[in-house]
Amino acid sequence: MNEPIVVDSVTALRTQVRDWRQAGLRVAMVPTMGALHDGHISLVRIALERAERCVVSIFVNPTQFAPTEDLDKYPRQLARDLDRLRDAGAHLAFTPGVTEMYPAGFATKISVGGPSGGLETDFRPSFFDGVATVVAKLFVQAAPDCAVFGEKDYQQLCVVRQLCRDLDLPVEIIGAPTVRDAHGLAMSSRNAYLGEAELEIARKLNAVLRQTAARLAAGADETGVTSAAMEALVQAGFRKVDYIAAREAATLAPWRRDRDGRLLAAAWLGTTRLIDNVEIRSA
Ligand code: PAF
Repeated sequence: MNEPIVVDSVTALRTQVRDWRQAGLRVAMVPTMGALHDGHISLVRIALERAERCVVSIFVNPTQFAPTEDLDKYPRQLARDLDRLRDAGAHLAFTPGVTEMYPAGFATKISVGGPSGGLETDFRPSFFDGVATVVAKLFVQAAPDCAVFGEKDYQQLCVVRQLCRDLDLPVEIIGAPTVRDAHGLAMSSRNAYLGEAELEIARKLNAVLRQTAARLAAGADETGVTSAAMEALVQAGFRKVDYIAAREAATLAPWRRDRDGRLLAAAWLGTTRLIDNVEIRSA
């Protein structure tokens, strides 16, 4: 396997992508915050199926963290990430510093409406402004033909699609299925915060979501089953459940039974906040 090219400046990124494009190569991007796990590697594999060159950005984006959140303790392991990218066959890692992305005097914020309403935004009000701003910058910097985002962050995927539609960003957004461990736990960089006993409890999140989605699909009352699911998670050992909510899969508007649905959740295990989501399959 070739080592990925590593660049930390926008100019170097642009020069390399321009050369590839001039050679007629299609370029895919996988935006990440590093601490790469098998979920990220699956995004790289999908990117490589869709394009001849794969750019992975590694940038822990401060603007999507609230002052009370885990920006400082967010795992950073660049050497290990680069090894994983080499093994996966990625061609370029873009690893900008904070001042490259947000130079002194930076004063712009992108705020996406539509699917960013509710769910995560009820608990992390500036999160999607931070995500939309950095993703728009990455797309303008790298000018990829397509970009791959995991369905694990389902609301983020919907927000990025809306962002590209609304700003006419010519990037095809590809949603990739969530990668899970053998017990259903969605891969997440934040799983690194969990000890063995907490991992056991964390695995209940997906099990409860799948049972609840099956009940909804079978016609159960939404308020009743989502309340019962929240209670089941607390009984299992979660400290607090921020939400479990059924939404229309395409728009994240309140779910209607004649539309494809998605059941989304966020819950706290000690000081770690986990999110997950599953399809609601109509009978
Ligand atoms: O999903 C993430 O890792 C981040 O929110 C993203 C899309 C890389 C933006 O910082």
